[in-house]
Amino acid sequence: MATNTVTDEYPEIALTRRDGLKLAGLGIASVAALGMGVGGVRAVTNGAFSAGSGDPYDLWHDWHSMTGIERVVAAGALACNPHNTQPWRMIVDGDVIVVHSDPSRRMPINDASGREHLAGLGCAVENMVIAAGAAGSTSQVTLFPHGLASDHVARIGLRKDRPRQDRDLAAAIPHRHTNRGPYTSAPVDLSDFAEQSLRVDGASVLWITDKAAREKLGRLYVEATEAITADTAQSTEAFSWFRSSRGSIDKYRDGLTLDAQGLGDLALFAAKLLPAQSREDGDAYWVKATREVHTATAAAYGVIVVDDVTDRSAQVNGGRLLARMHLTATALGLGLHHMNQITERIDRDAASGNPDVFSARWAALLGRPASTGLLSFRIGHPERTPGLSPRRSLDDVVTS
Ligand SMILES: Cc1cc2nc3c(=O)[nH]c(=O)nc-3n(C[C@H](O)[C@H](O)[C@H](O)COP(=O)(O)O)c2cc1C
Repeated sequence: MATNTVTDEYPEIALTRRDGLKLAGLGIASVAALGMGVGGVRAVTNGAFSAGSGDPYDLWHDWHSMTGIERVVAAGALACNPHNTQPWRMIVDGDVIVVHSDPSRRMPINDASGREHLAGLGCAVENMVIAAGAAGSTSQVTLFPHGLASDHVARIGLRKDRPRQDRDLAAAIPHRHTNRGPYTSAPVDLSDFAEQSLRVDGASVLWITDKAAREKLGRLYVEATEAITADTAQSTEAFSWFRSSRGSIDKYRDGLTLDAQGLGDLALFAAKLLPAQSREDGDAYWVKATREVHTATAAAYGVIVVDDVTDRSAQVNGGRLLARMHLTATALGLGLHHMNQITERIDRDAASGNPDVFSARWAALLGRPASTGLLSFRIGHPERTPGLSPRRSLDDVVTS
């Protein structure tokens, strides 16, 4: 890669505060009216003064000082994963890490086929492979050693026998966050991703950069987001993973939070002063942000493609490549935002026997069958530093 030299003093992305309040759908007057009375108490309860610090965020800060297999496993726990469900359980046995799916952390309505759940496990596998490689270990990865139906998703055998590799990507691990904020209009040099896009067998990246195609895809994302929010069961399940108070973040240490929504500083502060959003308000904000920010400022879209999206090994391998793409973007100072509304609706319609509304247009945009488009994301030069998302402690997810 051309520009991804990374040191431990990692360059953070510059912060700007453009149009924050407007984006959040809040007025200056309402913020001022709240003052520091009841709003001030809410600000404390909702973590306005403690974002990114405290126990749920320790792993991000402590990773640099970790060593050995603990550092490798922690890299897995810091991986991107669907709705921050953290769908993994890890067992460490000497130099072997066994990765299990935690089925209680699946989202059967939003992720009806389970593709995102297994992709999230693939992301954890690849983060561990990268962390181990940077420490000079070869990872022997075996997927589904007990058969494809099993929850035993991967076995990673580590052998310390090689020169250190993937050091730039490993250095990006504690700085990688999903960036849902606006991106600038500057184009992205996709050749910087070329080497990493070849690193996982059975999965590749299809880039959508052409303006007309981006606009068409953008409209499809908005339509899919509207369909999700109009589907009460799907919207309710998604909302159940939203942690709107600091208390619920401390309690669960998972799920989506206000800090991770890509708001400007002032809008985020204001959102924390106000009472927690209802599901309906949150959905309305999401549709608006998808239309006015996410799709309006995407410099390019990437789609992880595989031979068959229903193949469980391909789902894991697609996640492995996705993790590499996200770490590469971070190393390059780019923002990456996973956006899977279209495939979530394709799977939801198929599972509920509804007419297939999205596959034909998804396939036309990909120029290949819909059954090969596994996961998707947007990238660009970000205007804002993304917030940290909580993580459960290693004690909760790892047994040895
Ligand atoms: C397979 C997969 C699917 C995802 N789908 C979406 C999505 O559709 N929309 C979104 O905003 N984030 C999506 N994400 C991002 C996660 O919500 C995010 O990784 C998680 O909340 C943890 O936050 P972090 O990436 O900042 O650590 C997805 C991530 C993965 C790995």
